Amino acid sequence: MAAAPQPLYWLGKETLRVSAALFAENRRRLCNGLKSKGGVEARSVVVLQGGEQQQRHCTDTDLLFRQESFFHWAFGVTEADCYGAIEVDSGKSLLFVPKLPHSYATWMGEIFTKEHFGKKYAVDEVHYSTDIAEVLGNLKPAVLLTLRGQNTDSGSVSREASFEGISQFQVNNTLLHPVIVECRLLKSDMELEVLRYTNKVSSEAHKMIMKNVKPGQKEYEMESLFQHYCYTKGGMRHTSYTCICGTGHNASVLHYGHAGAPNDKTIMDGDMCLFDMGGEYYCYSSDITCSFPANGKFTTDQRAIYEAVLKSSRTVMAAIKPGVKWTEMHRLADRVHLEELVKMDLLKGNVDDMMKVHMGSVFMPHGLGHLLGIDVHDVGGYPEGVERINEPGLRSLRMGRLVQERMVLTVEPGIYFINHLLDQALADPAQSCFIDNQVLARFRGFGGVRIEDDIAVTATGIELLTCVPRTVDEIEAFMSESDKTFSPVVSSVKF
Ligand code: GLY
Ligand code: MN
Ligand code: MN
Repeated sequence: MAAAPQPLYWLGKETLRVSAALFAENRRRLCNGLKSKGGVEARSVVVLQGGEQQQRHCTDTDLLFRQESFFHWAFGVTEADCYGAIEVDSGKSLLFVPKLPHSYATWMGEIFTKEHFGKKYAVDEVHYSTDIAEVLGNLKPAVLLTLRGQNTDSGSVSREASFEGISQFQVNNTLLHPVIVECRLLKSDMELEVLRYTNKVSSEAHKMIMKNVKPGQKEYEMESLFQHYCYTKGGMRHTSYTCICGTGHNASVLHYGHAGAPNDKTIMDGDMCLFDMGGEYYCYSSDITCSFPANGKFTTDQRAIYEAVLKSSRTVMAAIKPGVKWTEMHRLADRVHLEELVKMDLLKGNVDDMMKVHMGSVFMPHGLGHLLGIDVHDVGGYPEGVERINEPGLRSLRMGRLVQERMVLTVEPGIYFINHLLDQALADPAQSCFIDNQVLARFRGFGGVRIEDDIAVTATGIELLTCVPRTVDEIEAFMSESDKTFSPVVSSVKF
């Protein structure tokens, strides 16, 4: 008999269908990972707590909910205030949903049955979260495995599952985190399919912006267009992070776009644009940066800086394969940048000597790239035993390990002209000796260039997930055949 079809997450039209089998496979991978790790007893039960619905400050206005990432990885549940449990020996999955008050039906809509959630998420059992202690007790677990561990990018510690009655159980909160992080590190075929989709939609959104940008517009109009395209065409209600739409000098602000610098400058003729934006579908991310001149035509200096960054991007991509050190890829990008800046007469001297005094970090203070998955800066960059290299530039690298097949990573080299870093370098004789200050002066206010693509590591190299015009010729040609009839409905844009 054919297996029953798995339920799907699907927002209709051309949006991606994601099978609940993706999460069943993730749970299987987790159980296998736990079983193969020493120290996990028989009758262990994983307990994860999903994200909670939160409100704006002290008001009753709900914030738009986005699921907690570990819980999403294991259950794919979109609702707030749930728990999930997995019996490690059998793989049995249990979902706990809140028992909602009658008023919910008035204000929020239909109150669904437990059977509804069982079908929707293809889990073995569904119970109310008020019964969690009793239901877990009936499993007679030797130990509950809860999730406590530090996120190596934020330094924050994950919120461990907790519920009334947990004190009656034996709880271990250290075993689970490293195992589930290693599972999230390597993407399954079904996960790769979703990440291909987020990249496809976000690439098209960037292309639509390149066709419609013009001097006189506001940076936030580009943010708005990107979000509109991703949601309308891709069913992406969230972006993976706050949109960065820096133009002119703002392109040198690495995480521009936050509340204190909210993409509110007018785009000027002659500005470089650095637009770093990624749509998120069913909690899977993308992270793409396109840099191009606002007027569609590179100046000599803009072309030189852009091509230097493109060269480092493509040199690094050609070198990536399983087994290479990510830290070496970062150094390789620095080296290419320095070589190209020498060709432009902005730097002078021996590149090996420049590398010794970390000249690369003056122009690229961030890391070459990071893991990407359910989180834009995905987990797993520094497992126990892998230490951050405490050097300028490399200390900002979010992954310190060897590249492995099935990792998804960003490759995002950049060259920026950040005044305070340039002044600091000029004040340091060990670095200033390499700088031609007269040439450098021309680049004050230039902003910066970042080229950010998402890649999946294969057995022999990479699969490039991002698809946007990248060479100077491609960009100029693409922008010149611009569709000036764009309307916010974006109905003319096809992908
Ligand atoms: N958008 C943030 C980053 O590129 O990592
Ligand atoms: Mn980015
Ligand atoms: Mn990134």
